[in-house]
Amino acid sequence: MDEAAAHLRAGRLVAIPTETVYGLAGNALDESVVLSIYRVKNRPTFDPLILHTDTAQRLAQWVEGIPPPLDLLAERFWPGPLTLLLPKRAVISDLVTAGLPTVAVRIPAHDAARALLARLDFPLAAPSANPFGYISPTQPQHVLAQLGDAIDYVLDGGPCRVGVESTIVGLDAGGAPVIVRQGGISIEEIATVCPGIRLAAPSALPRAPGELPSHYAPRTPMVLLPTGSPPPQDVADRAALIFWKPEERFVDGPRRFVLAPDGLLETGARNLYRVLREADACGARIIYAYPAPEEGLGRAINDRLRRASNG
Ligand code: TXA
Ligand code: MG
Repeated sequence: MDEAAAHLRAGRLVAIPTETVYGLAGNALDESVVLSIYRVKNRPTFDPLILHTDTAQRLAQWVEGIPPPLDLLAERFWPGPLTLLLPKRAVISDLVTAGLPTVAVRIPAHDAARALLARLDFPLAAPSANPFGYISPTQPQHVLAQLGDAIDYVLDGGPCRVGVESTIVGLDAGGAPVIVRQGGISIEEIATVCPGIRLAAPSALPRAPGELPSHYAPRTPMVLLPTGSPPPQDVADRAALIFWKPEERFVDGPRRFVLAPDGLLETGARNLYRVLREADACGARIIYAYPAPEEGLGRAINDRLRRASNG
């Protein structure tokens, strides 16, 4: 922890664990550090970053406040997989927010991440620690495999408990709350605090590249199959097959994967990115996948599966 903090204070990048995915973290108040995050990820600078800190009290230095009803969401879901879009103070550079007047912030529910953040007198800007457009990392090994040469330190916090990115909520032009990205907190849970909340309409200019039609994607072409449909004819020919849960037509053998062996949505979310990586690395010519049930966390999982199959 001390070593990780020392690297960050010196303006270097550290991969940090969170409950959702691993983040590629650096001092959010140092523009040259922020630039190096974009460079290492090969991420376009029009795609803004999320600010991480350990308590809501500290946020007052960096944002104008938490407007209702986002304050209620903060109270209910922080620390946790919730990101809020809040009016930024001038101390937050346009480079962090890609010129937007709002900055994305979250307080992760991960002991090591929060202990590290508590040691620092600056917030951490941290996108997911994957090359832009590729599958997000949920284990330190995933980070090492792809960014190991480009970063100074990976703080090992074990596998991520939630496994999909945070849910992003902001306000629309009329001041009504909208979900900008589905994630670790389901729409149903958000709606217990914000009744009737809706998904932001996909805009011509994507607000979050997590909203880009092709994202979170393996290198191998991937096709999403309708639930209950039979596997395609050519499935025996070097195709990988990802099932939601074990079932009768599960064809055991090489290149066969199951997202949720116990059928639980939480399990499927936790396994999603690891399974996508394994399917991508198994030598298949194509990956076929079945979706999760379209409810709760399953919606966020299916959102990722759809974008992964839109290469
Ligand atoms: O769970 C997570 O949120 C993880 C962990 C590391 O905290 N982080 C993460 O960061 O997923 P990233 O950079 O991969 O995704 C952040 C998303 C991007 O799609 C970005 O466009 C969007 O948040 N975003 C950031 N600031 C925004 C803003 N002011 N308005 C709208 N979208 C914003
Ligand atoms: Mg990402």
